[in-house]
Amino acid sequence: MDVVKLGEYQFKEYLSAADIARRVASLGAEINKDYTSEEPPIVIALLNGAFIFAADLCRQFDFECQLQLLRVSSYEGMESTGKVKIDHAAEPDMTDRHVIIVEDIVDTGNTLAAYLPTLKSKGAKSVRVCSLLLKPDAIKHDLDLAYIGFEIPNEFVIGYGLDYNGRGRNLASIYSIVNAD
Ligand code: IMP
Repeated sequence: MDVVKLGEYQFKEYLSAADIARRVASLGAEINKDYTSEEPPIVIALLNGAFIFAADLCRQFDFECQLQLLRVSSYEGMESTGKVKIDHAAEPDMTDRHVIIVEDIVDTGNTLAAYLPTLKSKGAKSVRVCSLLLKPDAIKHDLDLAYIGFEIPNEFVIGYGLDYNGRGRNLASIYSIVNAD
């Protein structure tokens, strides 16, 4: 499928499922060099968008890990609201643990700029971020992003977990918008 229509918007394929699978495998290999089962990290995947990426990524790991899904939201339609909601009740005990935060995309960076500082008081041994996508032209915060899959232009994308108002998450490829206003 090269073109997808969601409501009034058209999206064209930007990263194929094969491109994504290759990059996820190489990210996994990179992360495997940094962790061991002797000190198994906690992998916190930020929902909803990161659920597919996290599922594929964690199956590349050859160390033991604990996976936690954490609901975080800031987006409505195609805009970041700037207000970040975090379900702190679902967080695991991070005392003395290495933590990997898995994101689908870093856009303005508002989500991570709100979330990462809250981890400082949780006693984690280390915290690293792995995001599949980064929009360098949209980011507004100075964030330390250890692992990035692809840097992409500042255009709205859907697929592979990413949605437009709840739609498009199940697409195997990543699509970018054609006819934005
Ligand atoms: P940030 O807080 O602006 O960095 O955006 C983080 C969240 O907004 C991501 O985890 C996504 O859920 C959502 N988001 C940002 N850009 C896009 C996009 O292009 N398509 C779909 N969702 C996006």
